[in-house]
Amino acid sequence: MSIERDSAEGRAFVGQFGGIFEHSPWVAEEALDGLPDGPPTAATVHAAMVQAFRAASTEKRLQVLRAHPDLAGRLAIAGGLTADSKAEQASAGLDRLTPEEHERFTTCNAIYTDKFGFPFIIAVRGKTKDDILAAFQARLDNTPDEEFATATAEVETIARLRLDALFPGYAA
Ligand code: GUN
Repeated sequence: MSIERDSAEGRAFVGQFGGIFEHSPWVAEEALDGLPDGPPTAATVHAAMVQAFRAASTEKRLQVLRAHPDLAGRLAIAGGLTADSKAEQASAGLDRLTPEEHERFTTCNAIYTDKFGFPFIIAVRGKTKDDILAAFQARLDNTPDEEFATATAEVETIARLRLDALFPGYAA
C-alpha cells in the first residue's frame, strides 16, 4: 500500500526528502508510489526515488541536472547553496581554493556547460580537488549521451550519500 501524496504522511515524506534530488521535490512525490510498507530506510527510499527519477522524461531529468549549482561557482561564493551542496563542496575543500585553482574550476565549468548544457556533477564526498579536476578533464571528452548517463548516475549516487547521512546506523 503506497502513501497518498495528499496525506499528512505524504507531505511529511516530501518535506523530509524533497531536497535529496537537488531542488526537485517531484522525485520524492513520485517515489511515494514505489515505497514498500514498513519503516523507510536509506535503501528503500533511495530505490523508490531512483525508480521515479529513471521513469521521468529526458527533459525532466535534464532539469534535475540543471538544478545543480556549479562546483566552486558563483552561487557558492554568494552563499546561495543548499545545505547539502554546501557541505559536499566543503568536504572536498572546494570552499578553500587558491585563486589559481578557482580559475581552473571556472574555466572547466564554462567549457563543460557550453558543451553539454548542464553543470558538471560528481559525487564529491571522499574525493580531493585533484580527483575532481582529473574527472572534469576526462569527462570533457565524453559524448553528450555518455555524459548525460554519467551525470544522472552521479545524481543517484549523491542522493544515496545524502540519504545515508539522514539514516545513520543503516548499512543497507
Ligand atoms: N556534487 C555534489 N554536490 C554537488 C553540487 O551541489 N553541484 C555539483 N555540480 N556537483 C555536486
